[in-house]
Amino acid sequence: MKIAVIGSGYVGLVTGACFADSGNDVTCIDIDAKKIEALKKGEVPIFEPGLAELVEHNAEAGRLTFTTDTAAGVAPADVIYLAVGTPQGDDGSANLSAMWSVVKAIAPHLREDAVVVTKSTVPVGTNARIFAMLKEFTGRECDVASNPEFLKEGAAIEDFMKPDRVVVGVRRPEVAEILQQLYSPFLRTEKPFIVMSPQSAEMTKYVANALLATKISFINEMANLCERMGGDINDVRRGIGHDSRIGFSFLFPGVGYGGSCFPKDVRALTAMSGEHGCTPAMLLAVDEVNERQKSVLSEKLAAHFGDDLAGKTIAVWGLAFKPRTDDIREAPALVLIRWLLERGAKVRAHDPEAIDNVRAELGDAIAYCRRMEALEGADALCILTEWKDYHSPDFAEMLHVMNQPVVFDGRNLYESERMRRRGFCYHSIGRPPVDGRKAKQGGRE
Ligand code: UDX
Repeated sequence: MKIAVIGSGYVGLVTGACFADSGNDVTCIDIDAKKIEALKKGEVPIFEPGLAELVEHNAEAGRLTFTTDTAAGVAPADVIYLAVGTPQGDDGSANLSAMWSVVKAIAPHLREDAVVVTKSTVPVGTNARIFAMLKEFTGRECDVASNPEFLKEGAAIEDFMKPDRVVVGVRRPEVAEILQQLYSPFLRTEKPFIVMSPQSAEMTKYVANALLATKISFINEMANLCERMGGDINDVRRGIGHDSRIGFSFLFPGVGYGGSCFPKDVRALTAMSGEHGCTPAMLLAVDEVNERQKSVLSEKLAAHFGDDLAGKTIAVWGLAFKPRTDDIREAPALVLIRWLLERGAKVRAHDPEAIDNVRAELGDAIAYCRRMEALEGADALCILTEWKDYHSPDFAEMLHVMNQPVVFDGRNLYESERMRRRGFCYHSIGRPPVDGRKAKQGGRE
């Protein structure tokens, strides 16, 4: 099939590259001429494992091209994917201005039998609005479908190629058949292709993300209760997870969820509820708990060192909102770093991928270091992202280079008792703190 993908951001590029890889003829379109020029040269502007190789391979094979020319890209296309950004507006709702201008731009060039598909996360009812707009612009009833994405950053290619499910929202069953054909190379493992109305498909995306965010805020709240009442959230997690109705996944306590989806989508669904006269008590609580959770390490730091951190050096491992991405949008690490700087601390930070993005935001306010170098002279280490590099560091070297062996672990990477025996003062999430600093004199592990 001939496919046009409008918007060459994260979702658009992954969609375009994967559909090209399954043998389609894909044109990725973007108004950002610099981005398109870079992509033509094989430079992928984001870090996503496997994406650069996939783009290069399919571009070389002639199946994936890039252009700023909407008319040329859309005119021959059987299917037009809309994958432009829908950022959070001032009132929390999704800002759809990019979507509306694209709909206007494609209308004169659409083939009569073309199918327009929304891939961006859009408020419920957007699909119907696009249908109405295209009717107004073209004078005919165009096929407009909804096909939400469920891609995790860092695993987007795999999620696209091996989806748990594909959801499409359509007005006519024939449109579902076209999309099913498009997805058939990725649905070999009997994963379901689920057909519903456009409104239900739009809602499915929000409900999925809101539920996942709810799981995280829920376990974080339980972790905080464990800390206050006594208890170890890791044990509790093991204790509940074997109940098949509960399970283990997405119930890791931490420093709160970040990224481009959960915060934005929970707030957008909240705003939508408000527009329909509802007060979504659960969603409001999920967001509020998450905002509070981003301060969980700073509260522990303040309890340990006091509020004034002048003269203290704090190492931070992990700046991206999660591993395997360079994305720092809504990253808890930035909230902590700003708090540290306000209190006069010196910050020495490491991240395997996100340094450039943080430097663009914070400039020289903090030192950017290699992993062990960040610990030199540090009065404490804070761990914000569970990158693999941090799972088994050389603890003896850490004790050697740090000024004080104090660790605030926002991702529960280490076993508390082992950290105590190694000689660390170790704070984590939802588990009792341990202090091995005296034990250290009696000999290290
Ligand atoms: C998410 C959804 O998973 C994806 O389906 C959707 O399309 C986009 O939003 P993503 O934002 O890439 O994907 O991140 P994800 O891996 O889901 O993690 C989101 C956040 O939750 C991260 O900050 C992560 O650290 C946090 N998290 C996740 C926890 O704190 N605990 C967990 O148990 C799981």
